[in-house]
Amino acid sequence: MTKLSRSWTLARTVWAMLLVAFSALLFAPPALSQGLVDAMRGPTPIPEQTKPPPIFPTENKDVRRTRNFAMQPPTIPHTIEGYQVDKEFNRCMFCHARTRTQETGAIPVSITHYQDRNGNMLADVSPRRYFCTQCHVAQADAKPLIGNNFVDVEQLLKRKPGVLGSTK
Ligand code: HEC
Ligand code: HEC
Repeated sequence: MTKLSRSWTLARTVWAMLLVAFSALLFAPPALSQGLVDAMRGPTPIPEQTKPPPIFPTENKDVRRTRNFAMQPPTIPHTIEGYQVDKEFNRCMFCHARTRTQETGAIPVSITHYQDRNGNMLADVSPRRYFCTQCHVAQADAKPLIGNNFVDVEQLLKRKPGVLGSTK
């Protein structure tokens, strides 16, 4: 009895493996022939190299950009090229730290940057806010790769009743 059931299990495993192999054969070729389309790569096949457009220069206007919502991390209005941010040194905090802003004229990082995840206030920037570019990004005057129909909540509130997204 044990012998029989063991051979059954084996047969079933082999069958399952064959099924997986076959389904791979069935589904893979169409995916390849259609060509993977990636917004960044375009239709260039994987083995070939793309010809990327030149990198846009980073905006450096020093004008603080309006935030789209209250808790948005503000975008960076200056270049950050070559700024060192690692365990030895944080170039951003060299200007944006509480104690440095009088000299540098930078906006001090807000109080949330000194809080740990339990809301405790720390003496220095919190580890979860240490790598600034996780949330803050420099800007370039480039055409967006994909569309965006974001509407500010203030405009949403002003929409006429019945219009999509209206709150009245
Ligand atoms: C040499 C000093 C200096 C350094 C280094 C620096 N900043 Fe700034 N930053 C400023 C100043 C000054 C402003 C105010 C606007 C301006 O003059 O560009 C500013 C503005 C900003 C703002 C806009 C804040 C707002 O409320 O709109 C952000 C975000 C910011 N910096 C992030 C960073 C990050 C991230 C780094 C590191 C990659 C960095 N900064 C490095 C001086 C600096
Ligand atoms: C996890 C995301 C995150 C990281 C990492 C982070 N920030 Fe922020 N930052 C925010 C958010 C969200 C805001 C806006 C709301 C707030 O103040 O908390 C903000 C606000 C700011 C402001 C504007 C403060 C004000 O009072 O207007 C500055 C300047 C800034 N951050 C700089 C930095 C610098 C420099 C670092 C790196 C040391 C950093 N941030 C790391 C999310 C982040």
